[in-house]
Amino acid sequence: MTAVLRPAGIGFDPGTRTWILHTPNTTYAFRLAGGRPAHVYWGAALTDAEVTSLPVRAESGARQRGSTSFEAPYDGTEEYAWDGGVRYGVPSLQVRFADGTRGLDLDLVGDEVAGDTSMIRLRDRHYPLEVTLRHRLRAGTDVIERSVTLANLGDAEEIEVLRLDSAAWSLPHREDYRLSHVIGMWGAETQLRRETAPAGETVFTSRRGITSHHANPWVMVDDGSATEEHGEVWSAALAWSGSWRMTVQRTPLNRLAVTTGFGHDGISWRLAPGESLETPVSAGTYTTGGFGAASRAWHTYVRGHVLPRPEEERPILYNSWEATFFDIDAGRQAALASRAAELGVELFVVDDGWFRPYKDDRAGLGDWRINPDVFPEGLTPLIEHVHGLGMAFGIWVEPEMVNPDSDLYRSRPGWVLHQPHRARTELRNQLVLNFGRDDVRAWAFEWLNRLVAPGVAFLKWDMNRTFSEAGWPDAPDPERLWIEHTRGVHQVMDRLRARNPGLRVESCSGGGGRLDLAILARTDQVWASDNTDAADRLRIQHGYTQLYPPGTLEAWVTDSPNTVTGRRTPLAFRFHVAMTGVLGLGGDLAAWTEAEREEAAELVALYKRIRPLVQHGRQYRLRPPCADGLSAVQFADRDVVVFGFRETPRMGFGVPPLPLAGLPREARYRDTRTGAVHEAGVLTHHGLALDLPRGEYASAVVHLERLD
Ligand code: DGJ
Repeated sequence: MTAVLRPAGIGFDPGTRTWILHTPNTTYAFRLAGGRPAHVYWGAALTDAEVTSLPVRAESGARQRGSTSFEAPYDGTEEYAWDGGVRYGVPSLQVRFADGTRGLDLDLVGDEVAGDTSMIRLRDRHYPLEVTLRHRLRAGTDVIERSVTLANLGDAEEIEVLRLDSAAWSLPHREDYRLSHVIGMWGAETQLRRETAPAGETVFTSRRGITSHHANPWVMVDDGSATEEHGEVWSAALAWSGSWRMTVQRTPLNRLAVTTGFGHDGISWRLAPGESLETPVSAGTYTTGGFGAASRAWHTYVRGHVLPRPEEERPILYNSWEATFFDIDAGRQAALASRAAELGVELFVVDDGWFRPYKDDRAGLGDWRINPDVFPEGLTPLIEHVHGLGMAFGIWVEPEMVNPDSDLYRSRPGWVLHQPHRARTELRNQLVLNFGRDDVRAWAFEWLNRLVAPGVAFLKWDMNRTFSEAGWPDAPDPERLWIEHTRGVHQVMDRLRARNPGLRVESCSGGGGRLDLAILARTDQVWASDNTDAADRLRIQHGYTQLYPPGTLEAWVTDSPNTVTGRRTPLAFRFHVAMTGVLGLGGDLAAWTEAEREEAAELVALYKRIRPLVQHGRQYRLRPPCADGLSAVQFADRDVVVFGFRETPRMGFGVPPLPLAGLPREARYRDTRTGAVHEAGVLTHHGLALDLPRGEYASAVVHLERLD
């Protein structure tokens, strides 16, 4: 008899006390066993009967349990591991009660399935602490969202919270485990790494107060055999834009679990009587379609359930930063705007400098006064000029920052992160304003709201330094700063958008330092890196799109040689790389030749035609930019667009036909440039011939229109 699979939904089997979550293609289950929520299953779809027949996973079962007094039967197998009893793995929850007791002893006190969400409530048998675990399905995706609320039900004593993770993700047993994740630095964000999970604990973290350039809160796990288009991949991500921690634990008995949450090692929070603390969401998903399918699943989820305006096409913007840096003046801005409009640009963004008293970063942050030497009549004439050219107007801000040389800092020195008896370390001549404070948030909202009122359609929200001396001396719980600053930033963004529904926001933190699911819930796009070198961008964008959709990735075409690396690349190569994300322009257009401007205008027009495919279609990374040879990426919906890049030509290494992915077998396509007609079968099983020019940094784009 064929097994009947359930449609997506959450069920509970009272016989085995098992919660069963069905997504369209996967099943996930946990069970209450011996008073603890034990993980049961996460993988391809199973029937309810198949799930309930599964044993509770404990390390090697009887062999280990009771056989010695040294083992921990549950480590790596729990749905949510709290500290206490015979547990020696990484706890997801760790507290200290006022009398010094640390271990938890929890018991189920309630459970509920309401629509797409299951909730179980656990209470400590002695202390007034309640833990609520939530699992939520998101319609049309295989993503499960999890979060936790911790409540101090007492009326007298505080509870110290040492670790409060959003979720622990336990994986089924496999012979081997491999981790995919990204590392980086300023100018080289989201560099993909794929390496065997070592036995022990691997921590990915940010202690910087921002998501960071150095790591990003997601991980993918496979058994070492998955490829771009085949194989099982489990992945988990954390929706948080401040400091975070993700610990991958591979036990000596070869179980693997990932626990993740906000905050980092060494910080703790105090939960006052009657208070509760809710974690951000951690989302997880499973696929059998390899890393490509995992990425597409994340893209679908971000578009369907995270972004505020997923249906919109992101405009082609021009940003003046690389053209002028701090040397900004109204006439030059107006001239750049005119040039940009001629090329087909839709949004003109004035970057840093418009409020600076000097042509550098020493002052201005915090006072936000338009520099009268630069804009004698304010911003209005420039805004009107930009509007007159048919473009929207955008502007750069850095609301969380203050220069010590500012009226704001002189009058409100207590508003910045600081600790008693410690110097306030300046980075880039600036200190961080504490957005955990109500007065700071109110001030920020007020001036931002005023700034955007006269026709500002777009804010680039930057954040150019990491935390240091991260204290809040007059707060009852100073370390809440690590949560409340981030929440405060989110809150101001949310309020600003609610008050100005037409406003769109770009997240930036010295490039891609603030890229995560939580910032994407209140912004429209992310400035992926200050490095606009197209060859480096291939790798940055490859890592970015592992989790986040290309339609959120802002990419500018700038000048050659590149300001960061000094590399020279052809204009078409720079354009083609940027066209695989949200195309923008950032060069000194005044210095571009007429021929360059003509070529640019054609490429801008081409991007407008393929934009729905790149920003809303399915992405297939056909060949990764690992070596300096050929790489290619395809976007498909009804039509298809393929980009090919060859960085260094080598004699004897030609350009083979490129097999395309995800095409319906019966489809036929016409190349919009050459008119050639291609059958889907040939494109899939033989490949598309790419016509790359000779020389270094060669690229091509092929737009295929579906015929029937
Ligand atoms: C860092 C950003 O990433 C750049 O694009 C630019 O906006 C500068 N800050 C301005 O200070």
